[in-house]
Amino acid sequence: MKYKSLLILLFILPFCSASAQSSIDRRVDSLLSLMTVDEKVGQLVQYSGTSAQRKTLVRQGRIGSFLNVLGANSTREVQRIAVEESRLRIPLLFGFDVIHGYRTTFPIPLATACSWDIALIEKAERIAATEATAAGVHWTFSPMVDIARDPRWGRIAEGAGEDPYLGSAVAAARVRGFQGPNLRSPTSLLACAKHFAAYGGAEGGRDYNTVDISERTLREIYLPPFKAAVDAGAGSLMCSFNEIAGMPSSANRTLLTDILRGEWKFDGFVVSDWNSIGELLQHGVAADLKEAAVLGLKAGVDMDMEADAYHNHLAAALREDRITGSELDEAVRRVLRAKFQLGLFENPYRNCDIGRERRDILTPEHREAARKTAQRSIVLLKNQNNLLPLRKDLKTLAIIGPLADDKESTLGPWHAMGKPEDVIPVLGGIKAKLGSGTKVLFTRGCEIEKPSMSGFTEALDIARQADVVVVVVGESGQMSGEAESRSNIGLPGSQEDLVRALQGTGKPVVVILMNGRPLAFEWIAENVPSIVETWFLGVETGNAIADVLFGDYNPSGKLTTSFPRVTGQVPVYYNHKNTGRPPVDSVKWTSKYLDLKNSPLYPFGYGLSYTTFSYSQLALSAKTLKPAENLIVSVTVKNTGNRSGEEIVQLYARDEVANVTRPSRELKGFQKISLAPGESKRVHFVLTPENLKFYDRDMKWTVEPGRFSLYVGPNSAEGLETGFHYSAQ
Ligand code: NOJ
Repeated sequence: MKYKSLLILLFILPFCSASAQSSIDRRVDSLLSLMTVDEKVGQLVQYSGTSAQRKTLVRQGRIGSFLNVLGANSTREVQRIAVEESRLRIPLLFGFDVIHGYRTTFPIPLATACSWDIALIEKAERIAATEATAAGVHWTFSPMVDIARDPRWGRIAEGAGEDPYLGSAVAAARVRGFQGPNLRSPTSLLACAKHFAAYGGAEGGRDYNTVDISERTLREIYLPPFKAAVDAGAGSLMCSFNEIAGMPSSANRTLLTDILRGEWKFDGFVVSDWNSIGELLQHGVAADLKEAAVLGLKAGVDMDMEADAYHNHLAAALREDRITGSELDEAVRRVLRAKFQLGLFENPYRNCDIGRERRDILTPEHREAARKTAQRSIVLLKNQNNLLPLRKDLKTLAIIGPLADDKESTLGPWHAMGKPEDVIPVLGGIKAKLGSGTKVLFTRGCEIEKPSMSGFTEALDIARQADVVVVVVGESGQMSGEAESRSNIGLPGSQEDLVRALQGTGKPVVVILMNGRPLAFEWIAENVPSIVETWFLGVETGNAIADVLFGDYNPSGKLTTSFPRVTGQVPVYYNHKNTGRPPVDSVKWTSKYLDLKNSPLYPFGYGLSYTTFSYSQLALSAKTLKPAENLIVSVTVKNTGNRSGEEIVQLYARDEVANVTRPSRELKGFQKISLAPGESKRVHFVLTPENLKFYDRDMKWTVEPGRFSLYVGPNSAEGLETGFHYSAQ
């Protein structure tokens, strides 16, 4: 039979690395020529979890991928059915959400972004990939690269924050980390940049809500991290739940085909989000599931996650000429290509190795990397009179708060196979750090969410006995992430009252915050001497926090989202427009609130250290930049304190006059440097005309002649200032 010999060819065809891609394309086409319509559709179908009925469908070649099927044994069992019992023996692709580590839980993505340490972030994902691939997984639904400007939106926890430049660097690093140098390597995990696109722009920060933004904002703010992920070689993308200006992403051909494939030349595949093709009915753009399937495929969604739309309706849609054979083939081609690229045809059991599963997960090296990552994700927000770092020979230390001994919340939202028993909580980390000479007292004081002051008496009692009080407050790990939007982003329950009461004892108070989003805590910021933002740091939470509290690690993280003073101030982000009436305190008719300062509580890019840094001698290589040239921006940064420390030096630009309004500042570069006490370094940034481009009045990507201001400093609200002219000739 014709297909038998072709099959033999497919499996024995030696891999010629010089033309690996064209060899894959040939193999894909050969396979495609053997497939029935049902088998083709099968490649585009993804379900969560197996069952007897689903195993029958695998045998019939009618499922191409699973999510949430895990473990070397379980994946081997279903893969065996696919490659031994189905007619064409096409291997399955197993996907899973590996958002911040597999079993070794790393800090949440919003936290690791605050390290601004691209190599560290890449390394964390390499470890996540090593563990996930040891447990049968081929493909992760990560990185989440959605820009988020509204902290009410719970999924802000999963991304890199509010800035497209930093977000792009982080997106590319995460893709490289997951995929490794080559998809065929046993520890490489296929990445999936999500959620395409502008999911973070949901009105009111309410999850799944409508997005209505201009094309300029879409292209300048929300799309760049996706483009960076594509350029870094991301093998797949996931479309988002939301609509943009009337068009739900799962039916958005402009986004999924014209921009993604036409402009960006993306050659991977697109998966829907969970039932997002089905949701086209609720959105009101499809009358029934068949129409939804047609809209999805024609827009460019290759794989249907859990909607049953492709499984039940694509074949009929083809018979009725509502989709074409080549549209179907193209989607199948993309999915098969990924399977070939992963080497699944040669080795379908590549990730089903019980030995690796036992050996490569939660190793001491992985824990050590998680600790290092956690230290660098911490942001010191306030440290009046150098209360921190604490001495290790304190006589009595009070540790208070509902999160101080919490092993579940510290894992944060969406923590894959992370387990509470693997976590070192704050209390444990601090106890391990201190010798027997320090008495450590602990009480919860209150619950995270339930308002009650009944624990305050004991809390105040132990606080009064202590030299220093450390209060650990914030959100539970499940208050951020998907479907976890909040209308009030203050500290939940009675926690702020607890902090106020403890501050009232007159003892030195250190507030440790744990949260998956920026919170609003103006009173604490004004009244408590030391505040440490720790997000959710994963398995090494307690050790990393103790390292920072006692000065074994000098904090270096900086915020990647602005912190509002109160919830009503959101959205607040640094790269806003100037408006025609920029705020002036003493002038009524300017853009401001009656009852609030316009500045955020903490700006984007902000974070302190136990040492101090000075900036001086800002200089440019020229006063004018021309089309084929570079501008070198140089600054001297000096460690003016008495401890070694790391500083994240940031470069911002502003286009003073353009044919459309431009943001007050835009991040254009950053460097993280280490300085010994008294040491200075000259830091250089290279600015090109490309870095200054924007979408002009006619939506042309361009740089206009004129004056640009530049700012170099420690955050988005401070810094030295200079300027130059861009001239087209
Ligand atoms: C829905 C979420 O929006 C998405 O991020 C996730 O990857 C899928 N569910 C699969 O779990």
